[in-house]
Amino acid sequence: MTADTKEARNQAIADLLAEARRRTLALVAPLDDEQRNRVYSPLLSPLAWDLGHIANFEELWLVQTVGGREPLHGELGRFYDAIENPRVTRGELPILRDEELRSYLEEVRERTLEVLGGLDLGPGQEDPLLRDGFVYEMLLAHELQHQETMLQLLQLVDGYELPLPIGTQPVSAAGPETIAVAAGSYEVGAPPEGFAYDNERPRHAVELGAFEIDRTPVTNAAYTEFMDATGAEPPDYWQRDGEGGWIDTARGRREPPAPDHPVVHVSWQQADAFARWSGKRLPTEFEWEAARERLDDVGQAWEWTSSDFLAYPGFEAFPYREYSEVFFGDEYKVLRGASWATHPRVARPSFRNWDLPQRRQIFAGIRCARDAG
Ligand SMILES: [Fe+2]
Repeated sequence: MTADTKEARNQAIADLLAEARRRTLALVAPLDDEQRNRVYSPLLSPLAWDLGHIANFEELWLVQTVGGREPLHGELGRFYDAIENPRVTRGELPILRDEELRSYLEEVRERTLEVLGGLDLGPGQEDPLLRDGFVYEMLLAHELQHQETMLQLLQLVDGYELPLPIGTQPVSAAGPETIAVAAGSYEVGAPPEGFAYDNERPRHAVELGAFEIDRTPVTNAAYTEFMDATGAEPPDYWQRDGEGGWIDTARGRREPPAPDHPVVHVSWQQADAFARWSGKRLPTEFEWEAARERLDDVGQAWEWTSSDFLAYPGFEAFPYREYSEVFFGDEYKVLRGASWATHPRVARPSFRNWDLPQRRQIFAGIRCARDAG
């Protein structure tokens, strides 16, 4: 490994980190400090917590663990531990705010780049945290994923205008209603090389029966039809317009939901009920993964699956149990794909998202499946 290659690799990582940070700061740029500190919902952290947590995660893994340095603010880290501090408590924590928060983000990043400068993150590294730059990929993914969490909160901010060209689009019109997938053995999960989370590994074969899966996700029009027919609850942020129709009130707007856009902000229970009403069912996460390359409109809304969030056979927690392992069980349902608010870098085919079946603040929609024939 020549020094040039090592430096070029480290520079590429530094550029990606800088780009992610620009996006984070762009999202909160339209807000004042009061809005950044405000608790809008017990389900979501104040933005100041997310921002401090992003910097603290970076400090913990890069500056302290990899760089062997002391933290900037002593015990502050415990207030940014997501497991120790449920979202409902985060508004009350003595976290950094305003100018102190901005300095912390900058000072941690400065130290991160100092540590990065001295590292060899090549494929030959013995330390699995450093090999192929794992810890930097993890950090980058973490910040990008928190941008989506922040966008969930930003749906509650009246008058907030998205500073990026993102949002849902009409679903693809042309094509068959469903895609047929033959029975057989399918490889699922992330390959051993390249960045992925522990819960995506090991890659393994699963046996699937023949099934059909919808080519496109469920639209707002189809979901409205379901509500009219069954009296089902609306998606989060929808309200009656007073004339028998619906308006979407996210970000303080009052606009009718676009009929041909994918429905978002539905719970697993709503998704499951919709699928049954239409004579279908939710796909399993492995059916979804097996059909991934053939599906239209992936990346507009997370798609609820019928699968519980479980460990793959041979699972090994890495680099810490609290990322995945503590969530395994029948309490959480798996979502696949990505939403309009997900950075494309996060949306690997093997990526598994998970949440409680009653949750609607996430950008989750529906795609239906059924047994073949
Ligand atoms: Fe986090």
